[in-house]
Amino acid sequence: MRIGVIGAGNVGGTLGRSWVQKGHDVMFGVPNPTAPKMLELLKATGGKARAGGIAEAAAHGEVVAFATPWAATQDAVRQAGDLAGKVILDCTNPLKEDLSGLAVGHTTSGAERVAAWASGGRVVKVFNTTGFENMAQPSYGGTPITMFFAGDDAQAKRVAAQLAQEMGFDPVDAGPLANARLLEPLALLWIYLAVKQGHGTGIAYKLVHR
Ligand SMILES: NC(=O)c1ccc[n+]([C@@H]2O[C@H](COP(=O)([O-])OP(=O)(O)OC[C@H]3O[C@@H](n4cnc5c(N)ncnc54)[C@H](OP(=O)(O)O)[C@@H]3O)[C@@H](O)[C@H]2O)c1
Repeated sequence: MRIGVIGAGNVGGTLGRSWVQKGHDVMFGVPNPTAPKMLELLKATGGKARAGGIAEAAAHGEVVAFATPWAATQDAVRQAGDLAGKVILDCTNPLKEDLSGLAVGHTTSGAERVAAWASGGRVVKVFNTTGFENMAQPSYGGTPITMFFAGDDAQAKRVAAQLAQEMGFDPVDAGPLANARLLEPLALLWIYLAVKQGHGTGIAYKLVHR
């Protein structure tokens, strides 16, 4: 698949590297594509990924993943240009800058905001409920950890599930996009457990069935 990854930090960098390893054609979109950290990341993909501006990377992707800080996300979506018909993976969390809570929630979600900004894009909330370290290694003792995803477009959700499965996650359909209202607080809980409760980042959600 041709995938544009907007934001190449902890999350974008990890997802992009992993997708390159699975044979996908990845282009990162960042404010400064020739920054040393970007060039280092490209080197880490064995030169198989490229970097460009945000509009360029978005145009490259049939799938476009947003992995930007919440405060920059509206601007990143605007810069991405026409996203109509594309599969949009919203990997962001609408965190307050001091991580004390969510900037939106209960009656809407970051994902629904992204869907409103990315007019015509087929948005799936995914890759937001665990830390980037787990995205690099989604297996705990051979058990794949859960990756919830939510969206309104069945085909876009299949793409999200496929990418998650290829990475080694156990993808779990969490319903319509409005259920991002449930997944975004779950991310905040993960952060709270990892950071405030001292469990560290080596923790993950796993849905078990009797
Ligand atoms: N960290 C995690 O474990 C984790 C897990 C799940 C979800 N998330 C969510 O994922 C998102 C990214 O988190 P992160 O930890 O990867 O952040 P990060 O390491 O700070 O990376 C953010 C990336 O976005 C780029 N960026 C900044 N402003 C931009 C803009 N206007 N347009 C395009 N790109 C822009 C940054 O470029 P520069 O470096 O050049 O500024 C950087 O490449 C956040 O919404 C976060 O809540 C994080």
